[in-house]
Amino acid sequence: PHKLRVYDPGYAHTLAYTSAITSIDGAAGHLRHRGYPIESLAANASYLDLLHLLLYGSLPTRAQLTRFRRALYAPSASLVHADVRAVVSAFPRSSHPMPVLMAALSALGAVSPALNPSLAGANVYACPRARARAQLKALGSMAPLCAGVFRHVSGLAPAFLAPACGDDLTFAERFLHLLGADAHPVFARALELLLLLHADHEQNCSTATVRQLTSSGVDLFSALSGGVAALYGPLHGGATEGVLRMLQRIGSVERIPQFLARVKGKQEKLMGFGHRVYRNYDPRARIIRDVAHQVFARVGSEEPLVEVAVALERAALEDEFFASRKLFPNCDFYSGLVYKAMGFEPGYFPVLFALARCGGWVAHWNEFLDDPDRRIARPHQRFVGEVGPREVPPVDER
Ligand code: SDX
Repeated sequence: PHKLRVYDPGYAHTLAYTSAITSIDGAAGHLRHRGYPIESLAANASYLDLLHLLLYGSLPTRAQLTRFRRALYAPSASLVHADVRAVVSAFPRSSHPMPVLMAALSALGAVSPALNPSLAGANVYACPRARARAQLKALGSMAPLCAGVFRHVSGLAPAFLAPACGDDLTFAERFLHLLGADAHPVFARALELLLLLHADHEQNCSTATVRQLTSSGVDLFSALSGGVAALYGPLHGGATEGVLRMLQRIGSVERIPQFLARVKGKQEKLMGFGHRVYRNYDPRARIIRDVAHQVFARVGSEEPLVEVAVALERAALEDEFFASRKLFPNCDFYSGLVYKAMGFEPGYFPVLFALARCGGWVAHWNEFLDDPDRRIARPHQRFVGEVGPREVPPVDER
């Protein structure tokens, strides 16, 4: 038999990315953006404050924030091309919104020749103005696209509403306006905070996907479409939806022990728990849990699933199976409950995650393009197959 051996490629493979945007201390449960702790940003910054910090490395002054917001809300950045609207409308109303959003972003790349290296020439992103326009188009279009997708799959017409003229609206207020929602200020503030908490998280699966796609020289919009695809997965952004469906399946506090037994028997996962990096409480989860209780106070009816969620969290945190594996609630455990209380269907939760994370994806896209040593991504492979060379026998002798 051929000797199996690990084949060492010996090439300069890309296994780790270099970044100065976000840092996580998984053991301590710390999350910082450009050195600012998430707790302080959550208490003192808006989503656009954080977006400016991620993109440009500094928190904006009042004048800078006004200019930044006007640039994002301007029709040149936020109007959705008729052909992109047609792509959204071509999907059945019963579609899950994430594939629709993927297609819409990909279509945005196809209808933006001046901002697409494959159409305008490979060096288009070497021009700072073109890169800035691509960045603004992506960040300005994301809210109208996510809102238009929501209205389409919700059977609402017209799918795309005229963007609010209000330059003084927060990012969340404007998004709720684009949805056509008459949102209570508590919901708008809660959504603004959830968007901020989900904006960036170092080299998570979807951000690393955007970097990997960017490394091939593809346009920003196609890279963002790939980020949405990665986020759609139930182990990543799809977990927000997965938590709700898990709580609905458990149904009552009395059935928690039976569910946890299935988790320990590896027949179920405790959605919203565990993390690739955190071996402690996800700092975002604590903040979101507080937001959840503010929203439920506003909704008036203590959502029955909240009682199940709180009891489930307590039972898991007291259980050796989870403690021994350092499994704690992550950002998704409570966020779905908040979105549900606001009236969103579970299938739409990952779209809200993508709306927030688009800011981080664009910041990492920019940072990657600024890296003079950037190379096409080529992860290392540990080859454990038949090395060969092996003879190919005639078909009748196989
Ligand atoms: C996000 O990376 C990011 O930053 C992501 C994110 C972001 O902001 O971008 O934070 C957002 O995606 C949060 C995660 C959302 N996903 C979920 O809530 C899905 C449920 N979680 C798990 O699937 C899991 O915890 C992952 C996917 C999050 C992490 O997977 P890992 O790193 O493979 O888990 P691990 O190595 O820490 O697991 C150690 C043990 C294993 O058991 P044993 O083999 O030791 O017996 O813990 C078990 C795992 O099977 N385990 C779980 C579990 N998570 C891990 N068992 C039950 N339920 C879980 N949720």
